[in-house]
Amino acid sequence: MFENNIEKIKILAIESSCDETSAAVVVNGREMKSNVISTQIPLHTLYGGVVPEIASRAHIERINQVIEKALEDAGETFDTIDAVAVTKGPGLVGSLLIGVSAAKAIAWAKDKPLIGVNHIAGHVAANFISNPDLEPPFLCLIVSGGHTTLTRVLDYNEFEILGQSVDDAAGEAFDKVARAIGLGYPGGPKIQEKAKEGDANAIQFPVAKVTGKKYDFSFSGLKSAVLNYLNSMKMKGVEVNNADIAASFQKAVVSALVGHAMDAVEEFGEDRIAIAGGVSANSAFRKAMEEECAKRHIKFYRPDMILCTDNAAMIGAAAYYQYLKQDFSDYSLNAEPGLKL
Ligand code: KG4
Ligand code: ZN
Repeated sequence: MFENNIEKIKILAIESSCDETSAAVVVNGREMKSNVISTQIPLHTLYGGVVPEIASRAHIERINQVIEKALEDAGETFDTIDAVAVTKGPGLVGSLLIGVSAAKAIAWAKDKPLIGVNHIAGHVAANFISNPDLEPPFLCLIVSGGHTTLTRVLDYNEFEILGQSVDDAAGEAFDKVARAIGLGYPGGPKIQEKAKEGDANAIQFPVAKVTGKKYDFSFSGLKSAVLNYLNSMKMKGVEVNNADIAASFQKAVVSALVGHAMDAVEEFGEDRIAIAGGVSANSAFRKAMEEECAKRHIKFYRPDMILCTDNAAMIGAAAYYQYLKQDFSDYSLNAEPGLKL
């Protein structure tokens, strides 16, 4: 739309919904001029998961520097950007509030439009940066620590949800299983590494089907199956092979995700599918999706690795399409921890 008259809309985006403090400058929703991510993983590792109070405090300590660095890396200033975007939810309320407050302060002080963005829509939009030719409609499977959602992307920021997780999200299951076999936090990348040394066919872990809802996911039964296996081996005095557990568990998750995605591709006759969210960084998942899509001659899209897990660039990408629709927030913008897609 703006390409013809070469107008460039530069959005400063802020993300602080969980344990990454991030700021980015994105041009026209597609061009990432900067993307600064300050991770809190070392702070939370000691506790085996994200501690909300520690996360909020770390966001406060880092947010100003992260924003300044994002502007500096992009060669921009508060005066040269066109709008300020921020994740309004879902996420941890204390963490979200830090980003929302910072964005409101900048928007007010510099008289710029303020755009509140849904974090899950942001994950989908990461694909617009990594895949310049991707435009709606397409199918998207969002797999993160908090959400597992299969959706049709009807238009920018417009979704028709086909299914979602009824209990644990896939990423959450990765994190819990990793903890159970002593791999620590964050579980996803650790399971992926451990799985490389293991046999994915060593243990048959079941993935429950959700009755009635074809595209819903359930991963808590799988998590329990791993815990039961660990207990029964312990009671029998049999030493377990963590690499085999990691590989078998990962295979079960991947086959549930890919199975649902391919069923939807076939039912809706889609010819394009994207993945998004932290678990979309998983190499076994990416490979399986690539193979199954190739078999069906479906185009497969995925974000670059750095854009899979939480980052502000994806928020800037989603925000651009809200900007085009003048979908702005006023200063009453608040954190919405339970926000849905
Ligand atoms: O999207 P994200 O950064 O945050 C949420 O919005 O939840 O996702 C974080 C989740 C964590 O559960 C983490 O273990 C998982 O993504 N994750 C992975 C990998 N990298 C991150 N899971 C499997 N394999 C990975 N390589
Ligand atoms: Zn996320």
